[in-house]
Amino acid sequence: MTDNTTGPGRRSFGIDVGGSGIKGGIVDLDTGELVGERFKVLTPQPATPEAVAQGIADVVAHFDWSGSVGITLPAVVAGGVARTAANIDHGWIGTDVYELFRRHLGDRPLSVLNDADAAGMAESRYGQASNEVDGVVIFLTLGTGIGSAILYHGQLLPNTELGHLEVRGKEAEHRASSKVKEDHGWSYEKWAEKLSEVLRTYEALFSPALFIAGGGISRKSHKWIPLLSNDTPVVPATLLNTAGIVGAAMAVDVDLRV
Ligand code: BGC
Repeated sequence: MTDNTTGPGRRSFGIDVGGSGIKGGIVDLDTGELVGERFKVLTPQPATPEAVAQGIADVVAHFDWSGSVGITLPAVVAGGVARTAANIDHGWIGTDVYELFRRHLGDRPLSVLNDADAAGMAESRYGQASNEVDGVVIFLTLGTGIGSAILYHGQLLPNTELGHLEVRGKEAEHRASSKVKEDHGWSYEKWAEKLSEVLRTYEALFSPALFIAGGGISRKSHKWIPLLSNDTPVVPATLLNTAGIVGAAMAVDVDLRV
């Protein structure tokens, strides 16, 4: 299948690399919805750059897609190089991701960006909270770690990594990710206290107009959003498990290079 980049129903292709799966799909850029099913392969263990790139090539081949590909990584990507690897194989640090993926996917337009940045772009454009928030929007993925994207009128400030910001001497993601809740067996009340402290720290720095909460736990947001005690409204993400794929597809469509 080739890409169709003109007229209504413009299509692009996104791949979201996570700790357990490499998921991809064709995205309709007019609606932010997937065209057909997404396809997933298990993330190889160890998730080295070569092994993950092979998994990505398998997902692209499944769709017989010959056009541009956007790819997310759970890492800082700056200057075309992966700079961190908090929850993935350390072999990523220093990897020239464009050279790597070009070797596995051939010569075609590519965009590689942080997973939360991609999901935040997608939520701010296609999610329910997308209608004209007048101010800074902070999107957070609450999962194994805390991923972040800061957007202002749809423009992304990449690689903010707010999950690693220290809150009273401890990284935010070690205080309030959903994994920490699980590991400690905390109630929603207890976890909401921890998360509120993290959100208040972000408020002091960025004065956001809105937080959008993503990650699996946002599906149960009615159980914990009402318990938060920070000042800024928090709404659940609405694209959920397609946000990374959609954001990756958006990024390559606008030739985003971070
Ligand atoms: C990583 C981020 C990533 C987030 C969500 C954090 O541990 O440092 O780059 O966006 O997890 O996957």
